[in-house]
Parts: sequence; C-alpha cells; structure tokens
Amino acid sequence: MKLLLGLTMIGQTLAFTTRSASVASKRIGSSLRMASSRPYLIGGNWKANGTVASVEKLVAEFNAAGPIPPNTDVVIGAPFIHIPMLLNTLRPDIKVAAQNSALTGTGAHTGEVCASQLKDLGLEWVILGHSERREGFGMAGEDSKLVADKTKLAIDEGLKVMFCIGEKKEEREAGTTMDVCAEQMAPLAEILSEDEWANVSIAYEPVWAIGTGLTATPEMAQETHANIRQWVAANVSQKVADAVQIQYGGSMNGGNAKALLAENDIDGGLIGGDHSSWSFSTSSTGPEHRSRHKKLLQFCTYMTIQRETRQRSVM
Ligand code: PGA
Repeated sequence: MKLLLGLTMIGQTLAFTTRSASVASKRIGSSLRMASSRPYLIGGNWKANGTVASVEKLVAEFNAAGPIPPNTDVVIGAPFIHIPMLLNTLRPDIKVAAQNSALTGTGAHTGEVCASQLKDLGLEWVILGHSERREGFGMAGEDSKLVADKTKLAIDEGLKVMFCIGEKKEEREAGTTMDVCAEQMAPLAEILSEDEWANVSIAYEPVWAIGTGLTATPEMAQETHANIRQWVAANVSQKVADAVQIQYGGSMNGGNAKALLAENDIDGGLIGGDHSSWSFSTSSTGPEHRSRHKKLLQFCTYMTIQRETRQRSVM
C-alpha cells in the first residue's frame, strides 16, 4: 500500500515537474547548471517544541522510515536539550542541527552554548539568523553583523550553517525584498573567504510566510532565490553563487513542496510548523504529529524526482 502510494506520488510529481520545467525555462534569472550540481538540503526546525517522550517516538518513526534519496541531506534543528538524545538514537543519515550558537567562545557567558561545544558534542550543523531570533521574541533581536559574526565563528569551529534571511510583509510590499536580503548577507560576504562559503546554506524565509500558512508562490520564491544567487555572484563570486544551496522556508508543506522544489534555484526547504498545530507538547502520537513527520518524508521523495527531472534554464 505504501509502495503504491509512493509510486502514485512519483508519477504525479514527474508530470508536474515536466510542465514546471518548461515554464521555468522561460523565466528570467534562472541559471545554467547541471541538474545534479547542488545536493538538496531538507531542514526541519523544531523551534522550542518537544518533550523527551515525544522526541523518542519521533526518532523511532524516522528510524523505521525508508532510505533517504542519494545526494540529499536531511537535518533536524532541535532544541539544545534534545540534541544528545538525537545524536545517540537517531539514524546517522539524518543529521542534527542546533538552532543557535554563541557569539563568543567558552567562558563566563551564563546560558550560552558555544559553537565549539556543539562541535565537541558531534554536531555538523547550526541554524543561525532565524527571523524569530533577528526579531527577538521579547528580547533584543540579533542584527546582521552579529549573525555574520556568529556564522564566521561557527564555521571556524568546523560547523556548517543554515544562514537565514528574509523580508517582512511591509518590506515585500514596498518592493525592498532584495535590499533587505542584501543587508542581511553583506556583513557575511565581508568576512567569509570564498572557500568558507562551502559551509553555508542560505535559507530564504520570507517572514510573512513563517508559521502563517501563507507561502510565497513558486514564481515569487524562484525570483527571489535567483536574485539572491545573483547577489552572491556579484558580491562573492560566480563559483560560490553556482554552488551555494538556497533553501526556501515559510509554510512549506506537503501540498506546496513539489511546486516550490521544481524551481531551478530552490535547493531544499526549512520546515518548521505552526506552534498551535504542532502536537509535540500535547499528543506525540496525534494526527498533526504524524502529519509533520509524513511531510518530511514526502519532501525526500520529491527531492529524488525533482533532481532527476528538473531542467536548469539559460540565464
Ligand atoms: P514554518 O517555519 O514552516 O512553520 O513556516 C519555517 C521556519 O521557521 O524555519
């Protein structure tokens, strides 16, 4: 039954992708590359959700799930307290990320967790510059220079970074989306060497789409992703622009993922989940919980198909 469902999804996705590719090839701002040049990166962002019991159950589900497609990385961003559990019990082909790391190294910094400590624990990834942290949720938010400095330190300590950027609703409406993204990337471009960019995945997450159920259309997301890539070409190098993964985040779900992921410059997703519908804290076996898990697995299926079939078009 599961296999049947999988094959049906694959068939539908293939049909969709063929159409999507021909539309995308007419668009401005796409880039010419081999279809397999950038691996896909699917990130999960659990935010401040979950209990020991709910994480245990979710790990068991992931561990029992099928293989992850080749050339696809799946990384779960978990609360600090659940990271050791995940490292000890989660299948090794699903990586674990922290959702923050300190601006400093170890020392008298009560409450902080340093990049070197994350590395020491065995982590490969950290999510930095998420819009919720930039905004501050009741505390002082993080500005672009601070996020860049944290990113540089994390890379220096041997971590890879999902570097989040994105505009607010009023900024999109004012037509300043790329000004905002450029302002968020510029301090990083100043301090990273070309080689260090190999440790960065840019997560483009329009703030108005995060946790709201509003998603950028594939056309809107592709346009911004292409603009971001062009900015990287102009301000870092063409080589980095061609290689850097750009994930889309913001109410990505099982229904819209295949259209978003069919776009030439969308190299994966960062998937959170509306806190109110996230059932970790209430019922770890409830329908929403299972549906979040299913979504991640669906994304993996989409990844395989999109990578094999999508056409990159000429700039
Ligand atoms: P969302 O969150 O999928 O709930 O919109 C994405 C994120 O915050 O990274």
